[in-house]
Amino acid sequence: MNSKEIRKRYLEFFKSKKHVIIPSASLIPKNDPTTLFVGSGMQPLVPYLLGKKHPQGTRLTNSQKSFRTEDIEEVGDNRHTTFFEMLGNWSLGDYFKKEQLSWYFEFLTNELKIDAQRLYVTVFRGNKDIGIDKDKESVEIWKKLFTDAGIEAKDVDFSGKKGMQNGRIFYYDETKNWWSRSGIPQNMPVGEPGGPDSEVFYDLGKNLKRHEKSQWKDLPCHVNCDCGRFVEIGNSVFMEYVKTEKGFEKLKQKNVDFGGGLERTVLAVQGKDNVFETDLFIDVINEIKKLSGGKEYRDNMKSFEIIADHTRGTVFLASEGIMPSNTERGYILRRLIRRAIRFGKLINMPKNFLAPLAKKVIETYKDVYAEVKSEEKNILSIIQDEEEKFEKTLEKAFKETTSEITKRGELTGDMAFNLYESHGMPLEFSEEIAVKEKVKISDTLKIDFKKAAEKHRDISRAGAEKKFGGVGKEAGYEATKLHTATHLLHQALREVLGNHVKQMGSDITHERLRFDFSHSKKLTENEIKEVEDLVNKKIKEDLKVEKKEMNYSDAIESGALAFFKEKYPDKVTVYSITNFSKEICAGPHVKKTSELGSFKIIKEKSIGAGIRRIRAVIE
Ligand code: ALA
Repeated sequence: MNSKEIRKRYLEFFKSKKHVIIPSASLIPKNDPTTLFVGSGMQPLVPYLLGKKHPQGTRLTNSQKSFRTEDIEEVGDNRHTTFFEMLGNWSLGDYFKKEQLSWYFEFLTNELKIDAQRLYVTVFRGNKDIGIDKDKESVEIWKKLFTDAGIEAKDVDFSGKKGMQNGRIFYYDETKNWWSRSGIPQNMPVGEPGGPDSEVFYDLGKNLKRHEKSQWKDLPCHVNCDCGRFVEIGNSVFMEYVKTEKGFEKLKQKNVDFGGGLERTVLAVQGKDNVFETDLFIDVINEIKKLSGGKEYRDNMKSFEIIADHTRGTVFLASEGIMPSNTERGYILRRLIRRAIRFGKLINMPKNFLAPLAKKVIETYKDVYAEVKSEEKNILSIIQDEEEKFEKTLEKAFKETTSEITKRGELTGDMAFNLYESHGMPLEFSEEIAVKEKVKISDTLKIDFKKAAEKHRDISRAGAEKKFGGVGKEAGYEATKLHTATHLLHQALREVLGNHVKQMGSDITHERLRFDFSHSKKLTENEIKEVEDLVNKKIKEDLKVEKKEMNYSDAIESGALAFFKEKYPDKVTVYSITNFSKEICAGPHVKKTSELGSFKIIKEKSIGAGIRRIRAVIE
């Protein structure tokens, strides 16, 4: 069964259970500043999980494009990818545990014919501190499902020392069996929905070789061991709680939020032990093999995996109009492209290898996500530009790293950090060069690298720009001016259009600023002119830009605007432009607004329901 059929069968199966198939939302979140990208199928549905009526009813299903920035460093094992498709089905106050677990089990074992012997499940152990009980109800349902399939299903409490304990159903704590957008219950902000969950794992068998990566590597294997033997293929979240000032309360409705990785489901059906040999990736993998002059995936797994994953991620991000840059989404795209190129070097990929790989990705996905085909020209040109830009920087960095490592005859954590600082070489890359050059690697490499990195933790964004963009002094200053102009624009929009205007995204190059914000109507010519005039007025007034360190909560209290609220540390920097604008921001900014020159909006358009995008320059 190929991936197209599996995706289709999932949707059809839930359609037969009275679900409406809804399209995948964009990877760029709308009205949700909590993450840079949509990272799960439920994100676009949060208002409905909280009780708003969905126009399509109470049973929905889809395959949602998702991207998890936090998994970039995880790529390079048998199952983690940055971009992935999440098969999802939702009950918005409709069915609950019994239907959900039974249907999913039926889908896996009847529709996909996955051997139930290979399936293991986990449930929430409960936690008295937050007043939520052990999920015995799910355990009873699972017991019956397995028993009816002729499989004994013992429930056991997870214990690192005891391993499998002949169990089929495992209780874990909230670090494993609780789901919300912000993770464990203790990290959830007030108003956030979440709940206990039940995950299904597919057993690849005992012979998998990558056990050394597990944090439990010296202990017996268990389903959540991270060694790669057990692959989580689906997660049913019983989203019936909301965090309040007083702790957890029940939502008005009991929801189910199910998400299952398509790639991993395909892995299980196609009998592979990694996602990269499924039909979703195999054409790219074969192309890497060809371009590298016949290198084998099995001998160079990590490089192949990183290149294949990052190429696919690049195609999907670029297909949504994201351009490589030094901030936010653009920065993630730049990181993917550059990291893929770096790992390409390790397996002798020729120059400009990403475009032919991207073409393979486009072929694989064009029938499912039309935007990858319609944006093909754009995608390929973004890749080519970035590859050319990066080639020179990289060649130099590569030579210097290799020479430094061979000269010293060893690689230590401090050295690796210096290489990272001076040439942008990630630790793992220096490590691979050291392995290739057969020099000694310090036993405390990783710990020392981390220590050195902690010492330098305060590298500002400006530093990051220097490292990754090679932005010259002058270009850097232009970007700084546009950064300050962005704050003026944000406040001007709020004054002209109203305080519902909220920053949804921002991207700055040395030539222009781009600003995404919440507003539901096209701006009239008059409104555009009013905003421009107000910004120019504030520039002429020669206002002072002031920087202040404060506690996050004090900053919010004082009325400072914040963006991506979850990610701020306790201490933040607030930039004020006299009493006109106040924002939490890492900077850098100019000292006085008169440095900016004349401000002009060059484009205003919609980028989705309720979100507008402005491009502007200063002349
Ligand atoms: N929202 C749940 C997850 O991402 C299904 O795992």
